[in-house]
Amino acid sequence: MLLQTVQQHILEEQRRHHPQASGEFSWLLSGITLATKIIAAQVRRAGISADVLGATDNENVQGEVQQKLDVIANQVLMKFLGNRGNVAIMASEEDDDPVVVERDRKHGKHVVVFDPLDGSSNIDVNVSVGTIFSILKREPDPTGTRDIMSDVLQPGYRQIAAGYVVYGSSTMLVYTAGNGVAGFTLDPSIGAYLLSHEKITMPECGKQYSCNEANYDSFPDEYKEYLSILRSGKTGRTYSSRYIGSLVADFHRMLLKGGVFIYPPTKSHSTGKLRLLYEANPIAMLAEQAGGMATDGRKRILEIQPTTLHQRTPLVVGSREEMALLAKIMQ
Ligand code: AHG
Ligand code: MN
Ligand code: MN
Repeated sequence: MLLQTVQQHILEEQRRHHPQASGEFSWLLSGITLATKIIAAQVRRAGISADVLGATDNENVQGEVQQKLDVIANQVLMKFLGNRGNVAIMASEEDDDPVVVERDRKHGKHVVVFDPLDGSSNIDVNVSVGTIFSILKREPDPTGTRDIMSDVLQPGYRQIAAGYVVYGSSTMLVYTAGNGVAGFTLDPSIGAYLLSHEKITMPECGKQYSCNEANYDSFPDEYKEYLSILRSGKTGRTYSSRYIGSLVADFHRMLLKGGVFIYPPTKSHSTGKLRLLYEANPIAMLAEQAGGMATDGRKRILEIQPTTLHQRTPLVVGSREEMALLAKIMQ
């Protein structure tokens, strides 16, 4: 395969699909790649550095205890995105409200929404974590008076790019700008993301499903029926279950191997646990771009109109056959 860095890939993709593009977008992306390399280095040191491992004394807006790495990852992303010049607004899982880049409020063309560290409860046990990001376009606001939230609360189909980095046995960036999905593996010896997975497509069906089955008793009946069909062998396939508890890592498996990831409404999270803007939307865009599907059980994730920054949604995402079976049951 052609040895190509993520930057070269993005520039080439832009030349092909948006010949008039100014290169601003790839400059933005380089902020994300640089930040995630720094986060990856911190994740790799987690076991040996007391500055990195463990919890802080704070809770985030959602009442979850912040891990030190949540805070570090958030700061790094804010820093490297906030100085790009074309990002007007950033919004993160770790901050109550969006952060406005005052210098670029009037003319910045992009909004970036992110989950700086996904699966953070897995850090202490040396299991994969990730970073998820969603990039939205915004119109310039020459007077600088438009309501910030109207730029942030856009439905997922308006994303112009989305992706994640999984800090796993290797560090990998999976990315789409609406022309398919590509994967880049960080070569630590040269510090560059190199194209390792060209045109990723999700298999039509898989043999694995992923959900937190400890919540089974409080799943709505349709989900119980769905799981029972998957387990029964009636689909003609025998399923295994795989659940890590880091959305990025669980979805990454489904993207490459096929199958379905399920996070239904539960007793403790009656509207689902995962966050629409910086978890479900980017994952849904990647899934669709790879030939899969993503719904909240009934509705296409990318068509949900958000009303609040941290709103949650049930999420089912996976291969076409598994998603068709769910749709049939939900009818
Ligand atoms: P975060 O660490 O960003 O708060 O996300 C955790 C999420 C997600 O990664 C994962 O899919 C889910 O929480 C796991 O939830 P359960 O522990 O309830 O299974
Ligand atoms: Mn998360
Ligand atoms: Mn997180």
